[in-house]
Amino acid sequence: MADRNVVLIEKKGNIATIMVNRPDKLNALNAEVRVGVAMALEQLRQDDDVRVAIITGAGDKAFIAGADIAEFEGKSGVEGYHYIQTGDVYSAVERFPKPTIAMINGFCLGGGCEVALACDIRIASDKAKLGQPEINLGLIPGGGGTQRLPRLVGQGHAMRLIYTGDAIDAASAEKIGLVDEVVPQDELKGRVMELATKIAEKSPAALQATKESIRAAWQMPLDQGLRFEKAWFGLLFSTQDMHEGVSAFLEKRKPEFRGR
Ligand code: COA
Repeated sequence: MADRNVVLIEKKGNIATIMVNRPDKLNALNAEVRVGVAMALEQLRQDDDVRVAIITGAGDKAFIAGADIAEFEGKSGVEGYHYIQTGDVYSAVERFPKPTIAMINGFCLGGGCEVALACDIRIASDKAKLGQPEINLGLIPGGGGTQRLPRLVGQGHAMRLIYTGDAIDAASAEKIGLVDEVVPQDELKGRVMELATKIAEKSPAALQATKESIRAAWQMPLDQGLRFEKAWFGLLFSTQDMHEGVSAFLEKRKPEFRGR
C-alpha cells in the first residue's frame, strides 16, 4: 500500500490535480510515488465527476526532478530491467482516458520530463528547467523519453537533449514544442485552471474520442488512423451530448454537456 502522503489529490469542480509531494527530494519518483500516481489515476478514471486531470509537483522548485536515483544504486542488470518494467507510471499517464495537463512548476528532468511527455498538454512556469539528464548517469531515458520526445520535438532536438543531458529553460522548450505555453510562475496555477475549466465544459465522450484519435496518430498508418477517427465520429452520434451540442447551436444557446 502506497503512502498516500507522497501523492495528493485535490478536486475542484470537474478538475482534479494530482500532486507529487516529496518537495525535499524535488519530487523524485520513487516506488511509493509511482504506485501512488497509478492509484490516483485509477481513482480519477472511475470518478465520473472528474473531466480533466492536472499533474504537478509540490513546492515552488520542482515539477519532478526525475526517477529517484537512490533506487538505482547497486542494482544488477536483471534488477534494472525489472525496475523499469514494473510500475510504468508513464504509460499509465498516457493511457488515462481523460485530458491531462502537466503543470510544470520547476525542475522537470528525466522521469519528470517523461511524465510531462505522457500528458496531453504541457504548461510551464518561466522558472522551469527541462531535460533528460540520464546520460550523465551512464543511462538512457527508460520512461519513454527516446520514443515520445522525438515524436514531439523531432529527432534532432531529442538527440541533442538526450546526448548532452543539458537542461533547457522554459522559453527554449516552448520554441522546440516541448512545452505548449510558458507563463510567469505566479500565474501558472491560474492559467492551468483556466485552460482545464474550458476543457472540462466540453462533452467528456468527445474529449475521449479526441484523445484516442490523436494518440492513434502515433501508432497507426494514416489510412488506419483516418478510419479510426471516422469510427469515433460516428459513435459520438449515439451520445446525448452530441445532440445537445447540435440543438444548442441551432437554438443559439450555450450547450450543457452532461457526460451522457
Ligand atoms: N533522485 C533522488 N534524489 C534527488 C533527485 C533525484 N532525481 N533530484 C534531487 N534529489 C534530491 C537531492 O539528492 C537532495 O537531497 P538531500 O537534500 O537529501 O541531499 C534534494 O533532492 C535537493 O536537491 P539538490 O541537488 O540539493 O538541489 P539543487 O538545487 O542543488 O539541484 C538539481 C537541483 C535538479 C539540478 C539536482 O538535484 C539534480 O541534478 N538532480 C538529479 C536530476 C537527474 O539526474 N534526474 C534524472 C534521474 S534519471
